[in-house]
Amino acid sequence: MKRAMDNAEQIADWNGALGRRWAELQRDLDAMIMPFGRAALDAAAPSPGQRVLDIGCGCGETSIQLARQVGKTGAVVGVDVSRPMLAVARARLASGPLAQLAQLSFREADASAAKLPAGNDLLFSCFGVMFFQHPAVAFGQMRKWLRPGGRCVFVCWRKPRDNAWAMTPLMAARQAMKITPAAADPLAPGPFAFADEERLTGILVDAGFGDIAVQRFDAAVVLGATPRVAAENAAGFGPVSRLLREVGAAHLPILLDAMEQALGPLAAADGRVSLPGSTWIASATNPG
Ligand SMILES: C[S@@+](CC[C@H](N)C(=O)[O-])C[C@H]1O[C@@H](n2cnc3c(N)ncnc32)[C@H](O)[C@@H]1O
Repeated sequence: MKRAMDNAEQIADWNGALGRRWAELQRDLDAMIMPFGRAALDAAAPSPGQRVLDIGCGCGETSIQLARQVGKTGAVVGVDVSRPMLAVARARLASGPLAQLAQLSFREADASAAKLPAGNDLLFSCFGVMFFQHPAVAFGQMRKWLRPGGRCVFVCWRKPRDNAWAMTPLMAARQAMKITPAAADPLAPGPFAFADEERLTGILVDAGFGDIAVQRFDAAVVLGATPRVAAENAAGFGPVSRLLREVGAAHLPILLDAMEQALGPLAAADGRVSLPGSTWIASATNPG
């Protein structure tokens, strides 16, 4: 039997520098990601009164949107392993207009192993399900939380080469460090783990889902208001943040200069750097 322990490395990352950066950059990241999150929310279209799980909910933006959609008679639980990100999500709920969302709660748990109540109508995720060591096992477990006929809808990144927002800064950073990357394992847990459509479909089939549909959705990712801000954002998350961890923070100024130079010619007249992003929106049904 494969165990939750298998996700230990990812759980440590999302509770370490990576999770803290996502928590700090919550507003910027929400702005970058939400065009894709909105497309997934449109595909999921939860109705008032429904019970929803938001897997890998992070700082809670899509959980909040889902809670508004299901209304007071529904229930949304955001599930995540990252304490710093859940702290932001909970703080957003603690005051102001969001304090009214009594139907929304957050839970710290590894979604591949958590014990959650069954009978949910929707399993949703915005870029939060590509980090499992054994994805088919994890999806098989999560499927049991759905009622028969309940749906799973999530958005995940397609191939790196179709995601210039990630690859353009990464290539500039690698060049600056004179790094030729070792061939990466495309199946390893991480943002691009579900890039291959056949693999993605296979995982859902193996997990026991039916009625599987995978649709491409592309949109621009606004990396920053200026090339410098875009470079700083690229260094804060995504593949460059991993590279920075490998080469050491002392190299940050060199990487920032290299990325700023590469992004400069791509900026719009107002300075904004906005690059192509490409995703899959997957949906599937629990046959029961
Ligand atoms: C790329 S972030 C996306 C966060 C959020 N959905 C958003 O759109 O901003 C991925 C999220 O998945 C969470 N995650 C990774 N592995 C997980 C696991 N095994 N169980 C639950 N959440 C997990 C991370 O902690 C992180 O919050």
